[in-house]
Amino acid sequence: MKTIRVIHGPNLNLLGTREPEIYGSETLADIDGRLAKKAAALSLTLKTFQSNHEGAIVDQIQSVRAHCDGLIINPGAFTHTSVAIRDALLALTCPMVEVHISNVYQRESFRHQSFIGDVVTGRIVGLGSQGYLLALEALAAM
Ligand code: DQA
Repeated sequence: MKTIRVIHGPNLNLLGTREPEIYGSETLADIDGRLAKKAAALSLTLKTFQSNHEGAIVDQIQSVRAHCDGLIINPGAFTHTSVAIRDALLALTCPMVEVHISNVYQRESFRHQSFIGDVVTGRIVGLGSQGYLLALEALAAM
């Protein structure tokens, strides 16, 4: 069975109560639950991880190197700042999809820059939590 990893970055643990007009009312547990259902339907093993700490995310990316058939990552604000996460992803060989719940291009200009946009296989931006499910479908088809 193929294993898909999901990494959620800082403040995504607050989904549901954090700026619901931007990020919606679903919690992270809701999203992970929907992903788990879809993964089971696609005969995929799914492992999810969330951290508010850059180093913990780097450690997690390094630890999945040997056991990852695909990665979904929403690095949150680290998208726009982290060379360390970019470098960790460069050491992975599996397909990777960058997901953003909001349309970062309709927001502040500092959110228009992604340090990982040219490293990942593809990006899904602005489709809400549905973006994670579409990313899973895309990885299943690769
Ligand atoms: C986000 C967009 C980022 O700019 C922001 O810092 C987040 C969430 C999104 O999913 O839309 O934390 O990655």
